[in-house]
Amino acid sequence: MLTTSSAPFESIPVRRLLRSPSDLEHYGRDWTRRFVPSPSAVALPESVAEVQALVRWANQTGAPLVPSGGRTGLSGGAVAANGEVVVSLESMRSILSFDAADRLLTVQAGITTQAVQDAARERDLIYPVDFASRGSSQIGGNVATNAGGIKVLRYGLTRNWVAGLKVVTGSGELLDLNRGLVKNATGYDLRHLFVGSEGTLGVIVEVALRLAEPPPQQQVMVLALPRLDALTELLDRLRRRLVLSAFEFFSDKALAHVVRAGGRRPFEAPAPWYVLAEFDADQEAALSAFDEALADGLVNDGVLGQSDAQAQELWRLREGITESLSHLRPYKNDIAVRVGMLPTFLTAADGFFAREYPEFEVVWFGHIGDGNLHISVIHPDAMSDEAFTASCERVTHRLGALLSEFGGSISAEHGVGLLKKDYLHYSRSSPEIELMRAMKRVFDPAGVLNPGKVF
Ligand code: LAC
Ligand code: ZN
Repeated sequence: MLTTSSAPFESIPVRRLLRSPSDLEHYGRDWTRRFVPSPSAVALPESVAEVQALVRWANQTGAPLVPSGGRTGLSGGAVAANGEVVVSLESMRSILSFDAADRLLTVQAGITTQAVQDAARERDLIYPVDFASRGSSQIGGNVATNAGGIKVLRYGLTRNWVAGLKVVTGSGELLDLNRGLVKNATGYDLRHLFVGSEGTLGVIVEVALRLAEPPPQQQVMVLALPRLDALTELLDRLRRRLVLSAFEFFSDKALAHVVRAGGRRPFEAPAPWYVLAEFDADQEAALSAFDEALADGLVNDGVLGQSDAQAQELWRLREGITESLSHLRPYKNDIAVRVGMLPTFLTAADGFFAREYPEFEVVWFGHIGDGNLHISVIHPDAMSDEAFTASCERVTHRLGALLSEFGGSISAEHGVGLLKKDYLHYSRSSPEIELMRAMKRVFDPAGVLNPGKVF
């Protein structure tokens, strides 16, 4: 492979190329903020043909490419820290078509998640995948990471909504995968290989998204829990009585950060744990489920949003957590176990984090209805970056071993990228990782796409 500095940028086949230091810094990093960005150029292709030309140029010159969306990822999958050429899809952000009979919205990969959600709503439908970074994240990146978020409990991950994909493989071929079909039993479904491939197999250029019927009016309730082990019992109770769209949880420590950033505390008396549940509006069922949970000691307080504004304010308590912590540059774990494993896992994890991080603040929150916990370890002021990271990495290896006993995952929804690759083997077997490497060689024989990511 040529060193990137000798790649012939005069011959790079895109009209828009950025090389100023501020552009290199801006496009070279993502929301992990843990790697020093140092791409050699940023290409902004404006057509599929330009993406293909770029990939072919990379094959000829050996210049590595980093496919790039809104760079809201949290595992460094879109970071360019080694002289790569960033391929930003942000100029390719049009809605290409809407097919009402199939409820299919076909978009270019650089469109934001929010713009897709708005386009769906204008057509009296919804694009149900949702998360706090919706305004910046792009659909191509969502597909490349199989993005999850706050409605997975009801609607599943991004994968469920991808009805077709156009991708440019690592050798520059354009594939048109599944073409929006519901049924297509013609062998391996290559579309699904690209979902979650983190830019290592191809550049996603177009996505056909299936849209959904809007749900009935939703209601939001925040509940205060006295004990961690009440969580799964409460999930089970609420699920039996209400049609849940979300079941999220956060600790009082997490809430304190949001309150510091301007959020309003929902209860007078603090509780150690909170749950935010969203469900098809049914005030009576909600109140009776609440009364029963109260009588059984699973919750000790609750608040039901009485208007859209109040519901939004309650959501902010959960959705604002990541942003409220970002200035503290926490070390983030994003882990999952099966929901059925939660009761024993939560007890084990509670003991684990108390033992492993006696001196650090550890903030718990996440999509508990999916078995997904976000555990953020706060960087103490007095500690150097290196010492902090080294100590969190040591603990994460032990966490990987614990998760592996539970059959869990070391990355539930944030991907592997650069940040999690040392821990991949705790969740995927050696034969699995070897097969992934072999697939990489099939789709990207010259290894030009996002080298060094995932494994
Ligand atoms: C969230 C991000 C961190 O759930 O995944 O807030
Ligand atoms: Zn999350």
